[in-house]
Amino acid sequence: MTPRKIIIDTDPGQDDAVAILLALASPEEIEVLGITCVAGNVPLELTARNARIVCELAGRSDMPVFAGCDRPLGRALVTAEHVHGKTGLDGPSLPEPTMALAEGHAVDFIIATLRQHPPGSVTLCPLGPLTNIATALQRAPDIAERIAEIVLMGGGYFEGGNITPAAEFNIYVDPQAADAVFRCGAPLVVMPLDVTHKALVTKPRNDAFRALDTPVGLAVAQMTDFFERFDKEKYGSEGAPLHDPCVTAYLISPDLFSGRHINVEIETTSELTMGMTVADWWRVTDRAPNATFVGDIDADGFFDLLTRRLARL
Ligand code: BDR
Ligand code: CA
Repeated sequence: MTPRKIIIDTDPGQDDAVAILLALASPEEIEVLGITCVAGNVPLELTARNARIVCELAGRSDMPVFAGCDRPLGRALVTAEHVHGKTGLDGPSLPEPTMALAEGHAVDFIIATLRQHPPGSVTLCPLGPLTNIATALQRAPDIAERIAEIVLMGGGYFEGGNITPAAEFNIYVDPQAADAVFRCGAPLVVMPLDVTHKALVTKPRNDAFRALDTPVGLAVAQMTDFFERFDKEKYGSEGAPLHDPCVTAYLISPDLFSGRHINVEIETTSELTMGMTVADWWRVTDRAPNATFVGDIDADGFFDLLTRRLARL
């Protein structure tokens, strides 16, 4: 199997970190061309720092990591230190990165990479607000038809929102950007809260990470320990939802997931429901399907895959 070439667009975030580690541990299925950072969970300076910490943890200081947009297209930046801690990567104690950021802007890298590769051969994997991707599409509309697929974490329908009653964080932070991406015409696969809230790090699953007895296994266990305090209190759930790793797990093992190809549109006008993903799950309109909206996951299979892959690093 030829590995899929991907760009990870991210705002690490403990769950972003695990998604990146899973991709880097899976070279048979995934070739990461570069990592582009965006402001989201924490400001850009910290997401660009955290992405490099994660690459170094995986022994991949050769990975190009680009800084991108430092604020949403049309709104003030909202961050999530209340979930991810002051650094965005609170939990483990990891060294400051020594690798430098790659030269140039993340948006230029996304555009250039899509233009350099044959059409349909590069997949975009956004794990944060969609500002970098929307900016690339605005600046270079020709790239839309070159994108193989956009597999993203964002939105929620049956689960409602996690930052407002109606909206999930990544979409809420930059709804204009999300709207542009959902309308761009490229094939979309969406991992909403409906599925990520089923990917819970229960105690036995966290113990399995720790039992790897490697720097990566320990760091992941400590990240999810930190992250879960918030979710346990908020939802009374069994552990932290591993949102973003659903994206990279899907690339490796799509059979773990199931969903529906439906119309999904983004609310950009009403303040009350700003950033809501209006998903026509029941197909009650004649609006054309534009996204595969994932609804279910084989959670045991997902954690089994994740633990086995992390053991390689
Ligand atoms: C999303 O928001 C962030 O807090 C996580 O990293 C994830 O991408 C979940 O709503
Ligand atoms: Ca994220």
